[in-house]
Amino acid sequence: MKYRIQLACFAVICLLINCTPKTEIQATEPAKETPKQVLIPAIQEAEIEDLLIESAGNEKRGLKEIGEFPIGGAVDIMKVLEDEKLRAITIRNFNSITSTNDMKMYSILPKKNQYTWAKIDSLVAFSKRNNQRLFGHTLLWHHGLPKWIEEEAATKGKAWTERFLQEYIYRVVSRYRGEIAAWDVVNEAFESGGGAYRETFWYKTLGKGYIAKAFHVAHRADPDADLFYNDFNIEQDTAKLHAVLQMVEELKAEGTPITGLGFQMHIRMDTSDEAIAYALQQAAKTGLKIHISELDIIFNKHNDSEGGGEQVIKVLSPTLLQAQADKYENLVKMYRKYIPKEQQYGITFWDFTDRDTWVRPFFKILDWPTIFNEQLERKPAYYGFVKGLAEEL
Ligand code: XIL
Repeated sequence: MKYRIQLACFAVICLLINCTPKTEIQATEPAKETPKQVLIPAIQEAEIEDLLIESAGNEKRGLKEIGEFPIGGAVDIMKVLEDEKLRAITIRNFNSITSTNDMKMYSILPKKNQYTWAKIDSLVAFSKRNNQRLFGHTLLWHHGLPKWIEEEAATKGKAWTERFLQEYIYRVVSRYRGEIAAWDVVNEAFESGGGAYRETFWYKTLGKGYIAKAFHVAHRADPDADLFYNDFNIEQDTAKLHAVLQMVEELKAEGTPITGLGFQMHIRMDTSDEAIAYALQQAAKTGLKIHISELDIIFNKHNDSEGGGEQVIKVLSPTLLQAQADKYENLVKMYRKYIPKEQQYGITFWDFTDRDTWVRPFFKILDWPTIFNEQLERKPAYYGFVKGLAEEL
């Protein structure tokens, strides 16, 4: 109850913050930022401990204590702050967190000149309190690009677009210098299948050079941040994998400050383990840090487009749940086996509960792709993952 009252107050503060006038985009030096606004309620450490014990059946160890590399969860920070059980799971299991949507351009800058920081500031505070690495996702993505940007670019052209891209990245990354450890600088720059560059707004306006530019400006804004290229299907589509690896080599050869490669790893039960093993081995050769950045394992079929799901499995059985556990276990073992320790940036789950998974609304199917069920209890998949982390290879 106490949390609810605190949260209500913070929600009101949040609304007020979002209604205050915003600073203009500056052509050169970013304007002085507003002080950071934190939405997180003060929870005493003892209370957190109670929540952990309550929610996790007295088992004190979480995934983060078992692995030798960071284990992450992608979260909606408001949901985490409102939901005690979800919060306890997040704190107990993850030493890295990513935001599902709050660091995307449509959340940070939905309208011209209206930078919105409150939720990111909360993420920063939450991750600090809980000793979690904060992973930034994502600076440039085609999906959900705010409409006003395309409209502005249509009248102001290429030079404006290039300047905007640089200002946006500089402003966001420098504001959180030293607080956000790493960024997915560019997300999904290649087509879903095959090896072609995706014809995004950025590509069409600036050519493929937008990718290198984005990395350079992010590096200037925070020289210590790890900078990732992130994509999906590269664990299973060899043509796409090779195209991405070639881009990585080109970027490195040109001196672009890329330090990591993210495999989203939204896989299905029928995704070939051999293909994944091959992809991880090839990726390791780049010498980059390798992040499994958005892990989930889907039972049904989907075609990578919004609404493109096909409900094949209607009911879960213990056999299916066990098969999913084995798939999770094997994936972790492959990651440990094929990615050298110094390149293991970690494994991050996307949403991590079947209640909250993005797969259901996005592909419009009922699926169970994560390690916690609808009641936020651990599934066999959770224990499969633990075995993958703990067992000898
Ligand atoms: C998804 C979010 O989880 C959804 O809530 C949102 O509606 C769409 O984006 N690849 C990515 C993530 O890089 O940003 C996507 O997240 C999932 C696929």
